[in-house]
Amino acid sequence: MSTGTGGTYWAEQALPSVFKHSLLGRYIPQFGAMTGARDKQVVYLDGYAGEGRYESGEPGSAEIAMRVAARHRSRHQLRWTCFFTEADAKSAARLESVAVSYRRQGVDARVHHGDVEGVLDRVVGVAAGQPLFLFLDPCGLGLPYGRLVGTMAGRRRTGNWPPTEFLMNFSMDAVRRLGGNARSAKGVEASSLRFDAVLGGRWWRDYFPAGREWDPAAPQKVAAEYAQRLSTATGMLVRSVPVFRAPRHEAVYHLVFGTWRQHGLWVFGDAVARARDAWWEKAEVADETHDPNALFTTASLIRPDPKEVTAKAVPAIAGNLERLLAIRRRPFRLVDHTLEVFGEYYGQVTEPVVRAAVKQLHAAGKTSSNGVGPKPRELVVAPAR
Ligand SMILES: C[S@@+](CC[C@H](N)C(=O)[O-])C[C@H]1O[C@@H](n2cnc3c(N)ncnc32)[C@H](O)[C@@H]1O
Repeated sequence: MSTGTGGTYWAEQALPSVFKHSLLGRYIPQFGAMTGARDKQVVYLDGYAGEGRYESGEPGSAEIAMRVAARHRSRHQLRWTCFFTEADAKSAARLESVAVSYRRQGVDARVHHGDVEGVLDRVVGVAAGQPLFLFLDPCGLGLPYGRLVGTMAGRRRTGNWPPTEFLMNFSMDAVRRLGGNARSAKGVEASSLRFDAVLGGRWWRDYFPAGREWDPAAPQKVAAEYAQRLSTATGMLVRSVPVFRAPRHEAVYHLVFGTWRQHGLWVFGDAVARARDAWWEKAEVADETHDPNALFTTASLIRPDPKEVTAKAVPAIAGNLERLLAIRRRPFRLVDHTLEVFGEYYGQVTEPVVRAAVKQLHAAGKTSSNGVGPKPRELVVAPAR
């Protein structure tokens, strides 16, 4: 299986990468700000870093992290120790040339040409006692399951401090391809065995039984079970979000996020909703470029209207809050119940929508909390007096 990018990958950012980079660029500054406030340092690994920058000049994942590191250093005196590993020699050389300019700005950007597995233990060693964020973005299959779980649930299994988080690309193309391979009489067993290692067992093969019709939902079920298994094995809160090549397409990959912190879960969901907007905007621009004479772009016709989504989300979230109040019967902080608060709208709407829901509940006389306060996630919702 190919592990490289090849072709025109580095010419310009493709639509899935718009989502991925928008999410990364929104989330990691907040990870740094939230977890780095205490000791003014965080450790970051981009394990499949690529070239760092597209030929178009747009930043890739590595440059996004370097920019954040440079900004945090100059504005907040927060030090990021950044590791970037890249297996392909040409890509690693290009990445190094990007890193040089950030090192001149004082960023600790360390580029390693080689396999991510070769540096993982060193990174974990350097990160002892410090917050650690791992971004793992392979083109195909990623780290073996045991290695990933061992990293998260080994030395780093410390609960609150130091925090560890990961964001990982889980290839749905690979699931579909290897699912087809597993159910075929002509399938290559060695490929299935390699996937067993990445998924932590043979369980996934049950979704692709030989001699039965292909279940179109099977790849999605594999992604969901993988996230569930990771959560159970590591004890972390794990969410998995699909990323698409184009509107109405199947997911090309999922981004799987793991955290120990409810704050992480909250901020991630908010960042996902904002990254989706960025994705739709780019999809509309791509349609316009493809067909400049069209009256409406396809993307604009099928894009869920953000105002309509919000109009439905506010009462739905108010209902979630009401249920939480009925169960708890005492005040609670929103961020401590992220998934129950957002419900089905997790990753669909941003945090101001939750504030609007609190205000709606207050107007209906169902909470004494008026929804006014610094950050929606810190609001405390109390039963009506
Ligand atoms: C999807 S691309 C990375 C894109 C990059 N993260 C971004 O968003 O800008 C995957 C990269 O991983 C590299 N790669 C593949 N296997 C690797 C391994 N075992 N260790 C490190 N890098 C690897 C490939 O050469 C390729 O450049």
